[in-house]
Amino acid sequence: MNNKKGIVIWFTGLPCSGKTTLSKEIEKYFQNRDLPIQRLDGDVVRKTISEDLGFSKKDRDINIKRMAYLAQMLSGHGINVVSAFVSPYQTMRNFARALQEDFVEVYVKCEKEKCIERDVKGMYARAEKGEIKDFTGVQDPFEEPCDPEVTVNTKNETVEESVQKIINYIEK
Ligand SMILES: Nc1ncnc2c1ncn2[C@@H]1O[C@H](COP(=O)(O)OP(=O)(O)O)[C@@H](O)[C@H]1O
Ligand SMILES: [Mg+2]
Repeated sequence: MNNKKGIVIWFTGLPCSGKTTLSKEIEKYFQNRDLPIQRLDGDVVRKTISEDLGFSKKDRDINIKRMAYLAQMLSGHGINVVSAFVSPYQTMRNFARALQEDFVEVYVKCEKEKCIERDVKGMYARAEKGEIKDFTGVQDPFEEPCDPEVTVNTKNETVEESVQKIINYIEK
């Protein structure tokens, strides 16, 4: 019996910082090596498992708790997990960390102005107009990670450079 637990790579960062893009690349990295991997993405989860939740602090915390427990179940069976949630609160990232043997917090760092420039889904524009409330980076806070295993600076780095930084960390 192989009792080896999976690794959890937990991306955190402002909307449009690059979490989904990088998590898909990390997923490919595992798939190319025939290693089990489950990708969890906020956009998907919020339409499915957490469709009942909004974006108040309380609901955000519940969402992250659910995802932390889900990641724990998967990693417990040796399945690696890569997640892309804004996860703006340090206490909840610590909650997710505490459930794992092997947790890699990746801070996807990008200044807000650059995120607004990208505005992949037009969300910042809608938040600025007040059409979306509780938007991280506009009305809601983002707590920078205290001690992340990896920080990528997606304002200046290419996707390939950021991916390589993360892979360098997990390979060592
Ligand atoms: N180093 C980088 N890492 C990740 N994304 C980057 C990087 N440089 C530029 N980008 C671009 O930034 C955008 C990030 O969007 P997305 O991954 O959907 O963000 P998020 O999931 O954090 O909201 C994409 O269009 C991506 O191509
Ligand atoms: Mg995303």
